Formats: sequence, C-alpha cells, structure tokens
Amino acid sequence: PLPTEVRLFEMAPRDGLQNEPGPIVPTAIKIELIERLARCGIRHIEAASFVSPKWVPQMGDADAVMRGITRAPGVVYSALTPNLRGLEGALATGVEEVAVFAAASERFSQKNINCSIAESLTRFEPVLERAQASGIRVRGYVSCVLGCPYEGEIAPHQVASVAKALSQMGCYEVSLGDTVGVGTPLAAKHMLEAVSRAVPMKHLAAHFHDTYGQAIANLYAVLEEGLSVIDAAVGGLGGCPYAKGAAGNVATEDVLYLLEGLGIHTGIDLDEVVDTAFWITQALGRTPNSKVAKAKGAG
Ligand code: HMG
Ligand code: MG
Repeated sequence: PLPTEVRLFEMAPRDGLQNEPGPIVPTAIKIELIERLARCGIRHIEAASFVSPKWVPQMGDADAVMRGITRAPGVVYSALTPNLRGLEGALATGVEEVAVFAAASERFSQKNINCSIAESLTRFEPVLERAQASGIRVRGYVSCVLGCPYEGEIAPHQVASVAKALSQMGCYEVSLGDTVGVGTPLAAKHMLEAVSRAVPMKHLAAHFHDTYGQAIANLYAVLEEGLSVIDAAVGGLGGCPYAKGAAGNVATEDVLYLLEGLGIHTGIDLDEVVDTAFWITQALGRTPNSKVAKAKGAG
C-alpha cells in the first residue's frame, strides 16, 4: 500500500552543490538557497558538509553556511560529518542533526572516504556516541545500493548488512543511495525487500540519482513497498565527485508532481519549488533539467 504522507529531505545545498564544476558557489547563494527551500515548505534540508575541503572544495564554507542561515521554525538543517573532526565542526555551529556515510561497495568506500567499509563503521562509532551525548540525531547513508561505478552489481544482502550496522549503531534513519543512478524498479524493490528485513521500513529512506531517468519509476516501486522518506534536490542538481558520470539527485519538483498525482501529502508548494529551481540554476549559469520545471516554465 502507498503511504498517505511522505517526508521529503532536500539535498540541493549539499549533494546538489558538492560536485558543481567551475567556481566555488558563493556562500551567500548557498544561504539564500537554503532559506528559499524552507519557504517552499520543506522541513528537512541537508545544508552543508564538514568534509575535507581538499576532497570537496565546494563544501569548504560549511561553517559559514551553517552560521549564516536564518533558521525557520520547524525546519531541521543537517550536515554530513564523516569523522569526529567533522562532527566537532558541525556541533560548533549549533547543528541539530548530522549524517555519516558508508557504502555497500568496498571500492567505492575507498574512493569516497579513503577506508574500507569495516573501517568506516568503526570510525562512525565515536561520531554517534559524541552526537548522542550532545542530543544530536544522526542519519546514515549507504551508497551504491543498486550498483557501483567500480564494482558493478551489488548484492542486496550486502546493502542490508551495512544498513543494519548503521541502524544498530544508532542512526535513526538509513538512506539508501543509488549513487550512480543505474537502478530499475524491480531491482529497487528487491533491494528494499532485503534491507527492510534487516531495518524496519519506517527507518529507511530512498536517495536516488537520476542518471538513466529511472529515479521516478524506482521511487514509485519503493513507495508501493511502504517506504515514506524521499531524498531529492531542487532542479535535479548534483552528483558525487567519486561517482564519475553520475547525474544529480532526482528533482524535488519531479517527486512532488508524482506525489501530488498519487494524492500523497508533503506540505510543500510545487510552484515555489519550481521557482527555486529556476533561481538556483540561473545563479549557476544554466536552466533546470527536470521535466517538471521545463514543463511549468519560469514563473
Ligand atoms: P583521509 O585523507 O583518509 O583522512 O580522508 P585524514 O584524517 O588523513 O585527513 C586528511 C586531511 O583532511 C587532513 O588535512 C585533515 O586535517 C583533513 P591535511 O593534513 O592533509 O591538510 N580532514 C578534514 N578537514 C575538514 N573536515 C574534516 C576533515 N577530516 C580530515 N572533517 C575523509 C578522510 C573522510 C576526511 C576524506 O576522505 C573526505 O573528506 N572525503 C569526502 C568524501 C565526500 O564528501 N564525498 C561526497 C559525499 S558522499 C555522497 O555524495 C553520497 C551520498 O549522497 C549518498 C549517495 O548518493 O550514495 C551521501
Ligand atoms: Mg547522493
């Protein structure tokens, strides 16, 4: 059965901008993007990433972004924190939620965070302990859940085992990343069936990139399985620097159009999201590539 409500987790300020080629996006633009997203009615925004600026230069101003936003009531602004150093940086800005990120593929783990899957899980333990001691919620990501740019196919049980480890460590939610955007609906359904035997469905989220144009179909497949948290980025921005050729997250406006058609409530204003898609892509020197933004046009 389809869920009656879906919680949308907006990724554009982090996943959307982390891989942006060309000049560093000005801090003021990042802050305005986050504030505009909140005005659309979005209640969960991944705002920044406390990673090495040598690895991901676009996120080098995480501290200034987190301190610069005017916080709207009821909105959670979270940040990626791969290690204790990242967590300390995020805590200093008054963050209320952070995220750690692992992978279901050994080779992707090495490329992305420079350690094995097992080492990453060991590294996250003190991050979770310290976060929990500070009353901060921690989300977990698993990358490459429907395929890896280096290893190809990934077995569902491998995804389930990493998701379970993150959940047991204390992550309140595990977001399942189709990092390369290679998945198709039946594969997504099979993967989720395996993972939801290890972690309850209500603690799972879908984080699908749209490289092959399958993300909306894949989301419909997992909604039918009962999943009710979706990660998306306005304008379909983004990609991972360590997954060459991968396109952005599924576009928030495409997801909202799907959900509205299904009668599923989100509390988010689609037209405002489309306006925001045009605004941010113009700031980046292009136009949105999502179908829904193109169809609706600039407001
Ligand atoms: P490392 O080199 O193994 O770690 O990197 P290290 O501890 O040896 O540190 C190396 C350098 O980084 C040192 O600086 C540290 O000080 C610095 P140096 O001495 O060379 O000048 N450093 C830091 N600086 C700032 N903040 C920190 C920090 N930690 C160390 N927190 C590390 C390990 C994890 C840091 C590195 O590999 C890294 O930053 N990786 C970033 C990977 C990344 O951000 N990827 C994109 C996000 S994940 C994603 O997009 C997937 C997702 O969307 C889901 C999906 O789609 O699948 C979530
Ligand atoms: Mg991603």
